[in-house]
Amino acid sequence: MQVDNQSTIRTLLLSCCLYHTRAPSLVEVTANSPRLLREGVEVYAHYFRRELHYDFVQFIADETDKNWRCDSDGKWGWQQNRFVAWLFLPPHDLYLDGISNSKTVGACCFRWREWIDAPHSWALQWIWLHPYFRRRGILSNAWSEFTKRFGEFHVEQPLSDAMHHFLLKVKANN
Ligand SMILES: CC(C)(COP(=O)(O)OP(=O)(O)OC[C@H]1O[C@@H](n2cnc3c(N)ncnc32)[C@H](O)[C@@H]1OP(=O)(O)O)[C@@H](O)C(=O)NCCC(=O)NCCS
Repeated sequence: MQVDNQSTIRTLLLSCCLYHTRAPSLVEVTANSPRLLREGVEVYAHYFRRELHYDFVQFIADETDKNWRCDSDGKWGWQQNRFVAWLFLPPHDLYLDGISNSKTVGACCFRWREWIDAPHSWALQWIWLHPYFRRRGILSNAWSEFTKRFGEFHVEQPLSDAMHHFLLKVKANN
């Protein structure tokens, strides 16, 4: 997957026959989803890496639900790679200037984590929204769907400033 240069941001357009939306404005992407959706998530993962200066991209379109890995005893074998990614569509009140219900504005990815010092759980590994669509309530609106789906999930560190403040607000409202 090519992300062209250090500053361009492209948003992925979807053909509506490729997906089902989940309230509110979320498209679920798994290892079995059409390639276009998986590639869309990968593009946003590149933007996430670029903006937050990670040294690797945290999602690739070719990921499957199994990984060939070495375990802690040095034995190689297939391990489950459980993930659910999401593409975000803009809320209806932001359908402006060519922004339609087929335009995605960001993505995130949840992964199943088998912690050694805590019960296994889902974790929000990364999330990235197009800068024009931040502070418009997109993550707040999605949060209840995520907690319904993933229970008490963990949010992986390090947290950006925005995510830190977001979680403070969630805590204050609960
Ligand atoms: C973090 C991010 C996903 C938040 O999503 P969002 O849809 O913009 O968040 P919301 O609009 O639902 O914000 C809800 C509340 O979170 C807090 N918040 C969100 N972004 C904030 C920011 N940049 N600074 C301070 N508080 C912020 C505010 O309390 C906000 O409520 P308010 O706008 O009424 O003050 C988004 O800003 C983003 O993609 N940032 C870049 C990538 C990133 O930081 N990823 C997280 C890595 S851990």
